[in-house]
Amino acid sequence: ASDLLSTVLLATRAPVLWAPAMNTGMWEHPAVQANLQRLRSYGHAVVDPGEGVLACGEEGAGKLADVAVIAEAIQVHGTPKLDTLLGRRVLITAGPTREDLDPVRTLTNRSTGAMGIELARAFRDVGARVQLVLGGDLPEPWGVETVRVRSAQQMLAACKARWPDSEGFVAAAAVADQRPEAASPEKVKKTDGPETLTLVRTPDILATLAAGRQPEQWVVGFAAESEMHLEHAAEKLARKRLDAILVNDVQAGRGFGAQANTLTPLTAQGPQPVLGPLPKDQLARAVVQWWARCLESGRD
Ligand code: CTP
Repeated sequence: ASDLLSTVLLATRAPVLWAPAMNTGMWEHPAVQANLQRLRSYGHAVVDPGEGVLACGEEGAGKLADVAVIAEAIQVHGTPKLDTLLGRRVLITAGPTREDLDPVRTLTNRSTGAMGIELARAFRDVGARVQLVLGGDLPEPWGVETVRVRSAQQMLAACKARWPDSEGFVAAAAVADQRPEAASPEKVKKTDGPETLTLVRTPDILATLAAGRQPEQWVVGFAAESEMHLEHAAEKLARKRLDAILVNDVQAGRGFGAQANTLTPLTAQGPQPVLGPLPKDQLARAVVQWWARCLESGRD
């Protein structure tokens, strides 16, 4: 406690998070690494520095982490953990899938992946170990093991590989229901007259994982509906053998790409109180709190 900073650090009972920045040689020095290890052993969190041109002119590791990354780390470190989800492995799909016709054309949809990414963050913040299978172009959330995929087939393969080690699955991806029967390796030339594209069904990832689950594994799906929301969702809940389904009203600009959103959870007990309208990050936190309560009550 030789100066104000170290005095405050010694006295505080608040969570402590370090975001070190220094010369690459210093960063890699065993003394620095051993000291960081010691800080971690006190329960302090460390956001590793990024790489780039450093203030000293050298290039390498040691650059202060992105402010957005530091903000995410503060969010994770400062969020109270939920017993039912702490350390639990949760698999999440997010984003659109893309079904290629040829090297330049693709079939996709208007989903951005924002809701699924916010769900991944919200599960991460309460202590879950999240694996995210992500389509689309949005950046990967910090602190979440993410695998990027393009097609429904790739998303299914990535999910199947991770499902046996997961305790729960949340299907937030907007998976293309159809793909072109054949993808051409060369750009397809236009022809005169009507042109026909033959589509075939893609695998249903949610139904596949739900059908192959162990009794203790839980499965939550989404239903994007534009009419007769609860009737259609109840049918999906039963047909896909889900524990819960979150019903999203996608009519008239709501849902896909919109800032605020509303979700109606539906379980075997029927419709639950509506969550939202809320911005997607807050809505995702509300979903996680709601689902943790469901898991808790199921255990009683
Ligand atoms: N889903 C999936 N794989 C697919 C299609 C959908 O995993 N090939 C998942 C979505 O991630 C979502 C849920 O299934 O959680 C419902 O998707 P939705 O498109 O609303 O319903 P569908 O079952 O495709 O039925 P429909 O198109 O008739 O509405």
